[in-house]
Amino acid sequence: MVVKTKILSSKDSENIRACADIIKSGGLVAIPTETVYGLGANALDARAVASIFVTKGRESDNPLIAHIADADDVKSLVSEIPEVFEALANKFWPGPLTLVMKKNDTIPYNVTAGLDTVAIRMPNHKVALELIKTCGCPVAAPSANPSGKPSPTKAEHVLYDLDGKISYILDGGECCVGVESTVLDISGETPQILRPGGVTFDELKAILPNVKIYMQSETEELKPRSPGMKYRHYAPKAPMTAILGKPEKTAEYIKSCLCNCKGNKSAALMFSDYAFDHPNVITFGSSDNYEMQANRLYDALRMFDDMDITEIYAQVPDEQGLGHAIANRMKKAAGDRAVDLTSVL
Ligand code: TXA
Ligand code: MG
Repeated sequence: MVVKTKILSSKDSENIRACADIIKSGGLVAIPTETVYGLGANALDARAVASIFVTKGRESDNPLIAHIADADDVKSLVSEIPEVFEALANKFWPGPLTLVMKKNDTIPYNVTAGLDTVAIRMPNHKVALELIKTCGCPVAAPSANPSGKPSPTKAEHVLYDLDGKISYILDGGECCVGVESTVLDISGETPQILRPGGVTFDELKAILPNVKIYMQSETEELKPRSPGMKYRHYAPKAPMTAILGKPEKTAEYIKSCLCNCKGNKSAALMFSDYAFDHPNVITFGSSDNYEMQANRLYDALRMFDDMDITEIYAQVPDEQGLGHAIANRMKKAAGDRAVDLTSVL
């Protein structure tokens, strides 16, 4: 039982070695990546992997991503290398693209939640790559937050969430992308995006003209292809409503909600160029800057947890480019609470 969790600077290579030692001996360490912080364990050690699920309170049917430091390491984890793999790895690795392929027997079944496929990614973060290399094994890592909460993009977020549950958080600074990787299934005939993320649909389409966005059918609801997508996620404590539509319309709507609210208990997440002066308005980048919105989103959602509020209204970007991933996370954070103003001219 850990009493106090320590943040270790990754600038000292001794700290990276100490974290690798913990992972090698079956423990957990929070690690930085370019997308979000991950909760890492040796992906080849089923007991270590089991403790990830306990620490996060994660459902056992939700598989983990195995992180590697060299694209060649894929060969030791999969039963076949899909034809498109090389072009994708050359273009997007290291980077925010997770590839789902057929597993071999090396990876324990609790990593893949019983599936015959394994999700693999090579992160674009110097510290993560050095740590994985020093471990000498693939590192299984979900986002380092309790299940259902916004993902952590700073070491301090992980400390807030997991203090007392793990020994070390390896501090690699703020995550620059800010939303998770794109999960792309290349194990079948047609490549399918199971989760939008840091690599966009158009970027993938340039390499894979037949790539599809996977749409879950109702009959599959109980057994979705990317199990993680069925859970409410990324959610602040107060209920959030996603407001969809042109920013001038959504801003107008939100302004009227906050101004008509008695006792100042309503809050809003807004684009900086549409925000108005109000103590409960938090901004997350301008309406035309998806990179900034992605980078700020989880930090902004976390700020609401420290405010004395009972509801949140959020301006959601359109689903172009990186906006697809941002809108996906915001809708999940809102559960089924949405106001659709897209047809308002
Ligand atoms: O950017 C990221 O992907 C971060 C950093 C830490 O790398 N990790 C992350 O992990 O977001 P997690 O566990 O929060 O999300 C992994 C997603 C889930 O939606 C899960 O269902 C899906 O990947 N996944 C994992 N293995 C899969 C598989 N074999 N088939 C389909 N989906 C899979
Ligand atoms: Mg997650």
